[in-house]
Amino acid sequence: AAVPAGCPAHTSSAAVPPAPELFTWEFATDPYPAYAWLREHSPVHRTTLPSGVEAWLVTRYADARQALADSRLSKNPAHHAEPAHAKGKTGIPGERKAELMTHLLNIDPPDHTRLRRLVSKAFTPRRIAQFAPRVQELTDRLIDGFVEKGEADLIHEFAFPLPIYAICDLLGVPREDQDDFRDWAGMMIRHGGGPRGGVARSVKKMRAYLLELIHRKREDLGDDLISGLIRASDHGEHLTENEAAAMAFILLFAGFETTVNLIGNGVHTLLNHPAERERLQRALAAGDSELLATGVEELLRYDGPVELATWRFATEPLTIGGQRVAEGDPVLVVLAAADRDPERFAGPDTLDLSRSDNQHLGYGHGIHYCLGAPLARLEGQAALATLLTRLPDLRLAGESGDLRWRGGLIMRGLRTLPVEFTPGA
Ligand code: HEM
Repeated sequence: AAVPAGCPAHTSSAAVPPAPELFTWEFATDPYPAYAWLREHSPVHRTTLPSGVEAWLVTRYADARQALADSRLSKNPAHHAEPAHAKGKTGIPGERKAELMTHLLNIDPPDHTRLRRLVSKAFTPRRIAQFAPRVQELTDRLIDGFVEKGEADLIHEFAFPLPIYAICDLLGVPREDQDDFRDWAGMMIRHGGGPRGGVARSVKKMRAYLLELIHRKREDLGDDLISGLIRASDHGEHLTENEAAAMAFILLFAGFETTVNLIGNGVHTLLNHPAERERLQRALAAGDSELLATGVEELLRYDGPVELATWRFATEPLTIGGQRVAEGDPVLVVLAAADRDPERFAGPDTLDLSRSDNQHLGYGHGIHYCLGAPLARLEGQAALATLLTRLPDLRLAGESGDLRWRGGLIMRGLRTLPVEFTPGA
């Protein structure tokens, strides 16, 4: 009763529930309650990441969209103010300074403009559309591999290999070498933030392989994407071999774990929303693909794969959502939090596969907007439609609450997704 009027300590502790702990096991399993708290009480929130790096988390939709398109926020880690962290311990992609790291997601205009224009000439919507039959064939082949068993781990047997084979095919990696890629990529996913040795070796092998492949393709151009990258020129400018290798690497990397988790999180969400899942199955059976298209967008909004992988660095002091941010500070746009903002989405915590006003930020926004979105949509739609059609009684083997999430911060995804179904469909 004796609380002094206006005393901030007392008024705030009475009104505001305590700040949630971030980056715990509970947070990895279900970050959405913490994101709701942040949006409401600390929308531009200073936090210490598990790596020790201090960063701002931006969680409201309007602030997030603005920050993603703000040219004062650089993607280049050279703008990070904490040089003590610049030796590769930050977990910030690119601060490792490996050769493959000078790519679209770590650079600003004008270099970004030039490289993006060049790659866009090779990575065209037409090329992706032509690739649809191959994605369907891959999807069916992977399901053939486990359909007789009546059970599978959908991450390892399906969601993980599909995008890696797809992007290898697009790039023009010969089929007999694709399993090497799968193994290198698997090593990088499994040990993303962990032991460096194996990961560094895998990156090195991949780089050597890509440089060699680019070299070979230069002698004998085909109609694959790497040949397209070599051919692409803009006012006489070409990609150097290093740039082409870095580009192939980022296409693999930006397009790999994201798509694994689009499929994994998407199937997981559908299995936990039986009414929406049945609605989709009925639409597919009736040959209606409209709900599939809006549904994959909604799954991305509802539980998308990109958690905090949107690093930016303030190149000058600026204000985001009323909060002063100092020059050199890292800013993380939390897409998953923005995409549940009730200020932007009606009933944000409800899954509505036919949601029409759905300008989610799952693919980013502005000049770094996901280059691979058409491919991701193609793979996501083929994967979900084929699974639900061929395995109509697909169900989780075990409890949803027992599933383990990676908790890697950069990406949100399941370690395994054990399912059961009637064999032989
Ligand atoms: C950029 C998400 C699949 C290639 C991005 C960004 C996001 C994103 C959020 C922007 C990051 C930022 O602004 O900091 C996703 C999601 C995917 C997906 C959710 C799957 C569901 C793919 C695929 C590819 C790809 C399949 C390529 C094969 C890229 C590239 C960039 C990018 C190259 C960098 C573009 C630039 O900086 O100009 N993606 N992505 N992505 N994505 Fe994707």
